[in-house]
Amino acid sequence: MVLPDDPKYALKKVEEIREMVDNDLGFQQAPLMCYSRTKTLLFISNDKKVIGCLIAEHIQWGYRVIEEKVPEVSSENEKVIFERQKAWCCSTSPEPAICGISRIWVFSMMRRKKIASRMIECLRSNFIYGSYLSKEEIAFSDPTPDGKLFATQYCGTGQFLVYNFLNGQHQT
Ligand code: ACO
Repeated sequence: MVLPDDPKYALKKVEEIREMVDNDLGFQQAPLMCYSRTKTLLFISNDKKVIGCLIAEHIQWGYRVIEEKVPEVSSENEKVIFERQKAWCCSTSPEPAICGISRIWVFSMMRRKKIASRMIECLRSNFIYGSYLSKEEIAFSDPTPDGKLFATQYCGTGQFLVYNFLNGQHQT
């Protein structure tokens, strides 16, 4: 975990990784609200490569995704295609949240090996000293289709919390 007070070389490395992740996401993510309050988790492989990255920030509110019914006759494969293609909507009522996942990324060849799940588990125990965050206290920033499929599975519901859903909209 890299924290804002860590040595410059570590922060510089995190910045390089963040740029690479943003390029891989293929669009400009909303800028981080306050760099001095972010926590970055890096997943390092045995051969010392960064294969996962999670950037978390403090937030106050999240908004619940409104689940859309998947057509009933679909096969599992068709359901995933449907999930990937549809736009998502969320409630306009804010709900209290503590931790915002600004970015979560895993190297393409290493996906579906529970690396993202393990990074979130680690985040939940380390984001606030001495407390373990519940899934209800976590929100995802502007999830991509992959992010949505992952969050739905991890949170055990398609009605997980999101934030930053209007690009660049910041909470105070
Ligand atoms: N399609 C369908 N289900 C998925 C997918 C997917 N692409 N990814 C994860 N899941 C579900 C599965 O049920 C999976 O369990 P299973 O493999 O046993 O079926 C479960 O979530 C747990 O997945 P992990 O293995 O922990 O997730 P992974 O390490 O593969 O990382 C991630 C998921 C980070 C979304 C990865 O696909 C990725 O880096 N994608 C590209 C970048 C991206 O879009 N990041 C999210 C942006 S949104 C944001 O940053 C807030």
